[in-house]
Amino acid sequence: MKGLILSGGKGTRLYPLTFTSAKQLIPVANKPVLFRVIESIRDAGITDIGIVVGDTAEEIKRAVGRGGRWGVNITYIPQDAPLGLAHAVKISEDFLGDDRFVMFLGDNVIQGGISPLIAQFAESDYNSQIVLTRVEQPEQYGVAVLDDNNRIVKLIEKPKEPPSDLALVGIYMFDANIFKAVNAIKPSWRGELEITDAIQWLVENEYNVYPYVHRGWWIDTGRPGEMLEANSLVLEELTPKIEGYVDRDSEVDSRVTVEKGAEIINSVVRGPAIIGKDTRLVNAYVGPFTSISHHCLLENAEISRSIVLENSQIRNINRRIEDSLIGRNVVLHRSPIRPRAYKFVLGDHSHVGLLGEGGE
Ligand code: TTP
Repeated sequence: MKGLILSGGKGTRLYPLTFTSAKQLIPVANKPVLFRVIESIRDAGITDIGIVVGDTAEEIKRAVGRGGRWGVNITYIPQDAPLGLAHAVKISEDFLGDDRFVMFLGDNVIQGGISPLIAQFAESDYNSQIVLTRVEQPEQYGVAVLDDNNRIVKLIEKPKEPPSDLALVGIYMFDANIFKAVNAIKPSWRGELEITDAIQWLVENEYNVYPYVHRGWWIDTGRPGEMLEANSLVLEELTPKIEGYVDRDSEVDSRVTVEKGAEIINSVVRGPAIIGKDTRLVNAYVGPFTSISHHCLLENAEISRSIVLENSQIRNINRRIEDSLIGRNVVLHRSPIRPRAYKFVLGDHSHVGLLGEGGE
């Protein structure tokens, strides 16, 4: 079997972080989501992996390389524009050939990996198997309808009256018949070749499409809140390790990872949390569900349930920062210079939540 990872797209819902850089490279628990996807495919025994790339191709190639680090072989497949998930399959035909393959969205994080489902598909004669999971608000997802024989008979995008609570997870398995489908369908109202239409085509043309119901969590990290949620869930499963320096005046609990070269001085870190390589905490508090990337500085600052990307600094802020996603090379500090006013240099599409009147 082969693997196909979709890592093109625009990532508009994660602006400004993804205005100039790839959303799949935003880390959860200090490891890019895309690396986690590659690892799950590799752990399922697949070593031939294609990655569909768009505008951020160069950044992704720089970060991932040829795959040697994971013992896999990566082929890059350029997509001129994000014309849909089925379009991404269509342009990957040369790479995929006649092989059965698993397609994984490069911005999805799934608990427990994909080995069991790959094993089931590899042994079956199904033409396609679609990963589904039970969700609380099916009206917000693509939802599957199953018949009495447990076959998928219909997929409905964001149904007003959901026929089931089984939503599509961003993982699909196909054999080469999918190329007939992607070549037969027409773009949807939003101008994209939809994978749901391609699957519907398979169903209508009597191919065997079966569900695989995933138990455990799964997160599509399209929005900042989902990114923070994925970060929390992955941090909870991380095996803690202290490789950096923690001074005697600091308190670091048992669910914290401190990476090499990190220094924790007179600070408190409550897990689950991770402090990245060569990052310094001085008189700081880092609360649960927080990932601080490498080469950051937190001094006289408090933060919890947040992600801070590399080379950022947070200094002398006397309110706790919560539920925040802070980009690369950001400087956030209290300035002693008068007038006492907020001064910002914010990128396009930034979000800043300030305290209301009566706050400091
Ligand atoms: P989406 O999250 O559906 O799209 P997007 O990345 O453009 O995000 P937004 O809606 O915020 O603008 O894409 C899911 C994954 O598939 C993501 O990793 C990007 C990738 N993708 C492609 O590679 N090619 C495509 O044509 C599309 C639509 C998505």
